[in-house]
Amino acid sequence: MGGPGGTEVLRQAVAERTSVRVRPAGVEDLSGCAGIIAQEDLWRQYGVSRSTALTLLRKALGAGEPVLVAVRGGAVVGFVWFQLHGCFGRSGYVRWIATHPSVRNEGIGTALLRAAEARILRHGPNVFLLVSHVNRRAQRFYRGRGYERVGVLRDYVRRGVHEWIYRKTLGPLAPWRGEGGGKKARRR
Ligand SMILES: CC(C)(COP(=O)(O)OP(=O)(O)OC[C@H]1O[C@@H](n2cnc3c(N)ncnc32)[C@H](O)[C@@H]1OP(=O)(O)O)[C@@H](O)C(=O)NCCC(=O)NCCS
Repeated sequence: MGGPGGTEVLRQAVAERTSVRVRPAGVEDLSGCAGIIAQEDLWRQYGVSRSTALTLLRKALGAGEPVLVAVRGGAVVGFVWFQLHGCFGRSGYVRWIATHPSVRNEGIGTALLRAAEARILRHGPNVFLLVSHVNRRAQRFYRGRGYERVGVLRDYVRRGVHEWIYRKTLGPLAPWRGEGGGKKARRR
């Protein structure tokens, strides 16, 4: 992860069980993020390789889209990439979230998701995401964090793979800013 020696840094970080910090990603963190993606069958099934992931994440960061990383002992052990208005042009959308397999079930995914939600919910009352119909672990993870399955996109990315649409909501858009009401969404 994260360039030469990255795997060793990760191994040490995992062994040490040091505390995890969630912070905005810099370009130097992205190879660690792409390394996590590259290990997952999930993204392989969509044809996303390490280099594709790196390209997409660089583009996202370049476009000002938020990417947060979870860092332990200097190693990237998880990340979340999201868009404040990526769903219907007016609601938050969590594009990718992943933690390294060696640190799962420790609360790091939850910390990343909460950090993304905190940013998104300052701009509007909804968070959306897509999850593959076969990805039961992630479905359970989202349900446990207040998300509800609200629809399905059949054959959306790949034929035979359906995407469940998950939503977490604090309420309707109005009267949030820009939706005809008086109450203003707080800014960053
Ligand atoms: C989904 C994913 C991001 C979750 O990350 P994670 O770091 O394991 O998340 P957490 O540890 O916060 O939560 C996972 C489970 O561990 C439990 N957990 C959290 N802290 C724990 C602890 N200290 N001890 C034991 N269990 C714990 C949580 O309650 C949760 O259980 P649940 O899913 O039944 O509700 C991770 O599994 C992943 O990267 N999967 C592959 C990529 C993927 O599918 N991404 C989503 C694409 S839509």
